[in-house]
Amino acid sequence: MTTLALTINGRAYGPMDVRDDLTMNDFLREFLGLTGTKFGCGAAQCLSCAVIVDNPDGTSFTKPTCVVAAVSFHGKKIRTVEGHAKDGELTALQKSFIEHFAFQCGYCTAGFLNEGQVLLERLAKNPVARADLEKTIAQELDGHLCRCTGYIKYHEAVRDVILADPKHYLI
Ligand code: FES
Ligand code: FES
Repeated sequence: MTTLALTINGRAYGPMDVRDDLTMNDFLREFLGLTGTKFGCGAAQCLSCAVIVDNPDGTSFTKPTCVVAAVSFHGKKIRTVEGHAKDGELTALQKSFIEHFAFQCGYCTAGFLNEGQVLLERLAKNPVARADLEKTIAQELDGHLCRCTGYIKYHEAVRDVILADPKHYLI
C-alpha cells in the first residue's frame, strides 16, 4: 500500500492508502465513480483512457490511465472529462463535438476531448500559422483510436473552434 493524494478537476482527494498495483483507471472509475474515463485496449494503445495532467509551469499533457499505477499520480493535478463543463455549460470544444456529430458510440470521446483541450490551451499560448493548422491538429490527435472511425469529424470539430477565434489561436 502507498499513500495517494492528488487534485482532480480542482478537487483534492486523499491522502489515502491504495494498493501499489491499482491502476489509475480503476481508481477513477471504481473508487471515485468518475466513469467518464474509459477503458479500451488496456495496453496504452488507444488513449480512450487518457486524462489531462497539469504541470506547475502551466503546461499540460495527456496520459493514459489503463496501465499506469494510481500512485504515480501522487501530488499531481489532473483533469478528466467530468471537469470540462462549468456550471452545466459545455465548453466550446464539447459543443463543437456535438455540432459535428464527432462521436458515435462515444467510447473514445473523453480521450479526444482531453487531447483537443490541451491543444487549444497550447495554441492560446503559442499560436500557429493557419497553413500549419491541419498538420498541428493531426499531430495532436494522432494516437487516439476511434473504433467507429470518426476521425475526420473530430478534426473538423477542433478546427472549427480554432477558426471561430483566430486571433486567439493563430498567428
Ligand atoms: S485503454 Fe488505455 S490506451 Fe487504450
Ligand atoms: S465514437 Fe466509437 S470508438 Fe470513437
